Amino acid sequence: MTTDWRQLRERHDPDDMFGRVERFPEQMDDAWRIGTGFVADVTVPKPSRVVVCGMGGSAIGADMAASFLGNHIGVPMTVCRDYTAPGYFRDDSLVIISSYSGNTAETLSAYESLAGGNSTFLAITSGGRLAQLCGRNGVPVCSIPGGMPPRSALAYSLLPTLLVLRAAGAADFDDREFAEARAEVERRCRSCANGSKDNPAVRIAEDLRGNIPFVYAAQGLLGATARRWACQFNENSKSLAHFAYYSELNHNEIVGWNGPAEVMAHAAVVALEDVDDGDGVARQRDVGLEIIGPLAASVTRVPSAEGGRLARMLSSVILGDFASVYLALLDGVDPTPVEKIDYLKSQLL
Ligand code: F6R
Repeated sequence: MTTDWRQLRERHDPDDMFGRVERFPEQMDDAWRIGTGFVADVTVPKPSRVVVCGMGGSAIGADMAASFLGNHIGVPMTVCRDYTAPGYFRDDSLVIISSYSGNTAETLSAYESLAGGNSTFLAITSGGRLAQLCGRNGVPVCSIPGGMPPRSALAYSLLPTLLVLRAAGAADFDDREFAEARAEVERRCRSCANGSKDNPAVRIAEDLRGNIPFVYAAQGLLGATARRWACQFNENSKSLAHFAYYSELNHNEIVGWNGPAEVMAHAAVVALEDVDDGDGVARQRDVGLEIIGPLAASVTRVPSAEGGRLARMLSSVILGDFASVYLALLDGVDPTPVEKIDYLKSQLL
């Protein structure tokens, strides 16, 4: 029986999460424009180290920036998902406070925890308390458009972060990487939005149905992407999901594939693969999947697209974003609301 995706979208996706994923290339253009304008207006001295303070959908953009840059970042970069940031970021550091809403308790607290030194502070936000505090403290704000679920605003946290790092002399990449990534993401969106049987995102969603995704990747280029896949299954599909990294997982987690059999039979492995993973990781992955394969619900190997690092990373991100929305639609779940997060935040006010 063929699935009527149009009908499922009408029924279960009233806020159009599907459309938000599909319009990611346009968001990339806007985020690039905003980021370019922002760095033209601020002076960022070269830091000794960088910290990005943020949570959830705002933090992942910083993880992506670090994954993409790999060896092309000249200073240590940390993503702080906590109420306090390590004290050594108080001086000689670039501190980027990233909160889509501007109201996230941990992020505001981490910002305050770093007051008093000589570090350079910048913020990325659509408003909220963070924008007010920055206005009061003279901290430059890269203003991004509001009104989206934060996880749907990935380009707005990723691309300005990259542009700031480059403007600070801390990182190096070519504008052509952006143009190539944008074209590849658009291609990927076309292949994933059509709802046909050979659509790769639909196939992944169908494999995952009724199971818990275990997303595995090497920690290099696709490390942050594995985390993004898992978080999108959490928030869009309302499913538990797990991520782990090669080859570390072969030193611990692999032993856990020992039962109970009825639990393992609902663990579906998605292995993200990239040409830069290296021979060692590729071998570890092959041998590891030989062990896990007969025990898991399924093993789906997902090679990355052709092209440069940004294109490969974002193409994989979009595939996961689409798969998470298709999975929600198959399960009759509205991908947009995150009621448990909203409730939690309301209890912290
Ligand atoms: C919701 C989402 C969450 C938020 C997180 C932090 O779509 O992705 O993970 O990103 O609760 O909120 P912000 O991004 O507003 O600081």
